[in-house]
Amino acid sequence: MKGTDLSGTEGYANQIDKLFQEYECISFEAVHRPIMYCIPPAPSHLLDIGAGTGRDAAGFAQLGYYVTAIEPVSELRRRAAQLHQSRRIEWLNDCLPELPTVTKRRQMFDVIMLTAVWMHLDQSQRQHAMPLISALIRSGGVVVFSIRHGPPPTGRRMFEVGPDETISLAEQAGMSCIQRTEAQNDLRGVSDISWDRLVFIKKGNTNSS
Ligand SMILES: C[S@@+](CC[C@H](N)C(=O)[O-])C[C@H]1O[C@@H](n2cnc3c(N)ncnc32)[C@H](O)[C@@H]1O
Repeated sequence: MKGTDLSGTEGYANQIDKLFQEYECISFEAVHRPIMYCIPPAPSHLLDIGAGTGRDAAGFAQLGYYVTAIEPVSELRRRAAQLHQSRRIEWLNDCLPELPTVTKRRQMFDVIMLTAVWMHLDQSQRQHAMPLISALIRSGGVVVFSIRHGPPPTGRRMFEVGPDETISLAEQAGMSCIQRTEAQNDLRGVSDISWDRLVFIKKGNTNSS
């Protein structure tokens, strides 16, 4: 798979230095503190979809989680793996909406993170991806979406995605919303960007594997 051919990844590979500066200067704790109480404790298996520079993969690995980090842009994936070396992180070249590589493995996860990636998919891709994401999470596990609003950076492909659509798709796929928050301020202080954070729990028998 080549990152530049995949929808959603446009505009990343040619800005690697800038992205590492931008994403690595925000702390993992600042991004995720508000939702950590929802997340099954370590050690458990976490899938980070669209892992970027690996900031969150590294943060979770340091807390004792086993992290599978999916990143389709090879320039990002390779440098991230070098920067955040950890035996608890496995990097994979895979891509929404199909997630062919991770789906083929038939591994289930306790936590799935989609931080600043869902708005890269168009509506039909989001409809296609949600049941596949739900199929990767154990009953009782959680899926966390952070969805960006506001003008996209030059060259990126992004869509406006309302929280109601994501909640409805997740419910149809067997998940219930347990937290819904809106942040009018961006952690980097960009004034025209805001965020929705949605946390879902997979329904069903919590003892199943
Ligand atoms: C805004 S960055 C966020 C990176 C990281 N999650 C963070 O919060 O710092 C979005 C990431 O999603 C990845 N991405 C874009 N389209 C994707 C797709 N279709 N499947 C998986 N990842 C994708 C990009 O390559 C990029 O690394």
